[in-house]
Amino acid sequence: MKSKKIIFSGIKPSGAIHLGNYFGAIRQWIELQKEYQGIFCIVDYHAITVDYNPKEMQARILGVAADYIAAGIDPKKSIIFVQSQVPEHTELAWILNTIIPIGELQRMTQYKEKAQKQQSVNAGLLNYPVLMASDILLYKAIGVPVGDDQVQHVELTRTIARIFNRKFGFVFPEPKVILSRGSRIMSLADPNKKMSKDLGEKHYIALSDSPAIIKEKIAKAVTDVGPQPTGGKKSPGVTNLFELLELMGDSKNVEKFEREYKQGKLHYQELKEILADDLIKYLTEFRKKREELLKDSKKVKKILEEGAKEAQKIAKETLKEVKEKMGLI
Ligand code: AMP
Ligand code: TRP
Repeated sequence: MKSKKIIFSGIKPSGAIHLGNYFGAIRQWIELQKEYQGIFCIVDYHAITVDYNPKEMQARILGVAADYIAAGIDPKKSIIFVQSQVPEHTELAWILNTIIPIGELQRMTQYKEKAQKQQSVNAGLLNYPVLMASDILLYKAIGVPVGDDQVQHVELTRTIARIFNRKFGFVFPEPKVILSRGSRIMSLADPNKKMSKDLGEKHYIALSDSPAIIKEKIAKAVTDVGPQPTGGKKSPGVTNLFELLELMGDSKNVEKFEREYKQGKLHYQELKEILADDLIKYLTEFRKKREELLKDSKKVKKILEEGAKEAQKIAKETLKEVKEKMGLI
């Protein structure tokens, strides 16, 4: 296992996994695990930086684990684990906190956006990207497959690695961001914003949504207001629907609808019906596997425990190296 280069990524257990998470992140993980040692984390310590319901957390963590596996992350090939079960993550994060200037954290876009929405900002929200850097650097990952919104955090991780290496001697390779074609899927109800769990139900399609819900959400998706512009640029909502259709691999229909669009003859309702059918077909197998896994939570918990053990072996080695370089015992 050690001879393979490592890629690392994670998703917060803060709600259902949606098409943005899938096309931005998970779909690439499935491909990358063939060539690399994949380490895929459920980042619960990141999820608690905003208000959440403790009663729901366990089920959410297990839900994300089931999502990973049902989508095609193979626990025999890749390591799947929960962040809080490997305490080395917070230990290294503390160390990295001591070398990064606060100004670097205050200028992060995600921090600024989230801080704006809160009456009082907790320190964890500011330090969020340091914990993310710790996640990645603990495993000396060379690649981080994420969506577009995380690029800035991966760049900060590279900065942190550079500062550490300069100060104490080389430990961390600088990880590269790995982006996919669907790295920025937009909300269905407000296509100027990215698809996100925080916006609310009608904005996203969860991988676990039932066929009836998928149909309903796509049917209500925002397209154009007013008549269809001929020859002009597509509106953000229409662009998003085309992109989803393309990501489904339905090139035949994409071509047909493009042609109709250019002629000003495209009926959005037809595009929506076909997209909904494609999605339902695409997700049928996933939904079945996910349901089976959720019925057998013991099996999922076992996978997570074993994953944590494997991850911790690597994490401990790195932390030992870090402490030695820093003159700690
Ligand atoms: P989160 O749900 O914020 O924990 O995000 C988990 C992963 O999904 C990260 O790699 C994000 O960049 C990616 N992601 C989240 N929302 C989108 C989106 N709308 N489009 C593409 N990727 C996304
Ligand atoms: N911050 C990421 C997000 O919101 C989640 C995350 C935490 C992550 N640690 C990570 C992603 C390490 C990649 C690598 O989407």
